[in-house]
Amino acid sequence: MKVLVIGSGGREHAIVKKIALSPKVDKIFSAPGNAGIAKDAVCLDIAVNDFEQLADFAVKEEIDLTIVGPDDPLVAGIVDVFESRGLRVFGPKKNAAIIEGSKVFSKELMKKYNIPTAQYQTFDDPKEAVNYLKTCKYPIVLKADGLALGKGVLICNDFNEAAEGVRSIMEDRKFGAAGNRLVIEEYMTGREVSVLAFCDGSHIKPMTSAQDHKRAKDGDQGLNTGGMGTFSPSPFYSKEIDEFCRKNIYQPTIDAMKAEGRDFVGILFVGLMLTEEGPKVLEYNARFGDPEAQVVLPRLKNDLVELCEACIDGRLNDVELEFEENAAVCVILASEGYPEHYEKGFPITGLEKFDNQKDYFLYHAGTKLQGPDIVTNGGRVLGVTAIGKDLREARSRAYEACDWVCFPGKYYRKDIGKAISDL
Ligand code: AMP
Ligand code: GLY
Repeated sequence: MKVLVIGSGGREHAIVKKIALSPKVDKIFSAPGNAGIAKDAVCLDIAVNDFEQLADFAVKEEIDLTIVGPDDPLVAGIVDVFESRGLRVFGPKKNAAIIEGSKVFSKELMKKYNIPTAQYQTFDDPKEAVNYLKTCKYPIVLKADGLALGKGVLICNDFNEAAEGVRSIMEDRKFGAAGNRLVIEEYMTGREVSVLAFCDGSHIKPMTSAQDHKRAKDGDQGLNTGGMGTFSPSPFYSKEIDEFCRKNIYQPTIDAMKAEGRDFVGILFVGLMLTEEGPKVLEYNARFGDPEAQVVLPRLKNDLVELCEACIDGRLNDVELEFEENAAVCVILASEGYPEHYEKGFPITGLEKFDNQKDYFLYHAGTKLQGPDIVTNGGRVLGVTAIGKDLREARSRAYEACDWVCFPGKYYRKDIGKAISDL
């Protein structure tokens, strides 16, 4: 088979490395890919939002399967374009990817189908939103409706902060059109867990759990980022919680989407808050998480290509998902200054130390080839994942391997998975 992977981050590198293990796969392409992906795939100079050129390539090259990594092309309808050209593609159509693309849509879906989530109100008029804020308990959470690079959520401690938040999202349009509508929701407390699941429109098979660390600095300080590190599994995601979520959240979500005529095929990412009243949905995403994929996929025993095909063909129920009985930790090596201002173009050394390692994986994110060198090319540069028999071993291995690679301005959190491995 020939497979095309769309995207250029650590998540896509994890997908490429996993499918490279499949006996079904002969050749991998990636658009646009990065310097690490280029080792396993032919990288194409086509942007993720250039659907026509991507589809032209897939037709010409007779690609058997396309896997879409990032949210933007999914929400904008890349799957519909590919299917209209007769191409096989893994991911939700536009009318299903809206579960990530619109927070108003996802909240209304959960309300209509009794899926546990925070209480909320939606607004399209900033004055009404501010009036409502006068009646609220604090802290309170503001969410821009649309995609905002993971930054459209503000947790506000008092009325003044919240009113300022409404102004920045709805009037100053800090996140552009994503702020046309606003969700104001109840603040929840508890442990956060991410569960990613394969879906074929009717059935849903959840994978092992993971937890992200979204803030830039140790101790969950600093700005929100795309994710600075992950571990899997989460020791807080017990068997009982999993059973509750399967019955009350995962299957009901897929059933709800089907009932709305929006069959969800692809990866559903459920962000959960484990509250005292039970698990509640924080958010849905319509794709693999980044860097959740970097700890979940190395633990997956199944052939990823087979799973994608089972989802597309609506026969996920015939498949048994299996994970290794171990743990994984991923630490993101970022450019100093991320997620704000940082420099690019620095040479990276030590990459070869990861060659032929069994329990260590180096996932490229912001890297590119420059002459003979691999240089930094983004905020999140590399993801160092290590496997261990438990989280403690995985964590100490991941941190040991963080020293193997060097580049000027290398920055990483020192406390990924710390609280958990200290348990
Ligand atoms: P989201 O993009 O919706 O996952 O939100 C980003 C982060 O904001 C989450 O990972 C949580 O840490 C936090 N968050 C979102 N919604 C709530 C909520 N209702 N209560 C408390 N924290 C929240
Ligand atoms: N790591 C969070 C996300 O991919 O949305």
